[in-house]
Amino acid sequence: MSGRVLVAYAEVAAHDLLRSEVARFHGVSRDRVVLGHACGRCGSDEHGRPLVLPTASLREPAAVSLARAGAMSVVAVTDLGPIGVDVEPPGAADFPGFPTVAAHLPGTDPTRTWVRTEALVKALGTGLVLDPRHVRLDETGVVRWESDQPRPPHARVLDVDVPRHVVSVVVLTGHDVVAVEVRGLD
Ligand SMILES: CC(C)(COP(=O)(O)OP(=O)(O)OC[C@H]1O[C@@H](n2cnc3c(N)ncnc32)[C@H](O)[C@@H]1OP(=O)(O)O)[C@@H](O)C(=O)NCCC(=O)NCCS
Repeated sequence: MSGRVLVAYAEVAAHDLLRSEVARFHGVSRDRVVLGHACGRCGSDEHGRPLVLPTASLREPAAVSLARAGAMSVVAVTDLGPIGVDVEPPGAADFPGFPTVAAHLPGTDPTRTWVRTEALVKALGTGLVLDPRHVRLDETGVVRWESDQPRPPHARVLDVDVPRHVVSVVVLTGHDVVAVEVRGLD
């Protein structure tokens, strides 16, 4: 386990960006990276959580996540454990009813609350089946859990600087995050 978290963003197709960054993370060529999906709800392999399929040349692939906001794609890759990422434009959650939609931490930017929460539900693989009103996160991880879904023992929150966007990553791991690399691609 390297303990690295790689986050990359660009105005390109998200799956193309993800394939390139997984190849980079593992030091293999892009054609060695086979992407798929696994829906935790219905078992479909056509939607749901993205994953890198194990192959003979990539036996223990990294965990991955992706998100889009308009033309912007953001992907996250790690070998630490399940990962989720979300991106929104600044102010996306600035509406009066927001605290009834998600468990908001007073004093925090609502859009930050939202991207942290969505990154968590992606890392868990539940998506928004997990009610965002029942889970509260701050920059240290989960600070309140009222969901009947199982609480993850560890949830590391990484707020990531991406120009003109609000981005957070959640990694479900008890191990230390050794390095976070953030790459903006032209
Ligand atoms: C996952 C979810 C939070 C994404 O939100 P969004 O704002 O619409 O879209 P984003 O751009 O942030 O992310 C989209 C990506 O999230 C990923 N994703 C979808 N479902 C996911 C899940 N359950 N867990 C982790 N990641 C998921 C996918 O990679 C998807 O892109 P892709 O389908 O092109 O690969 C939301 O769509 C959701 O909750 N979906 C679950 C719905 C569900 O369970 N349906 C049941 C089907 S049987």
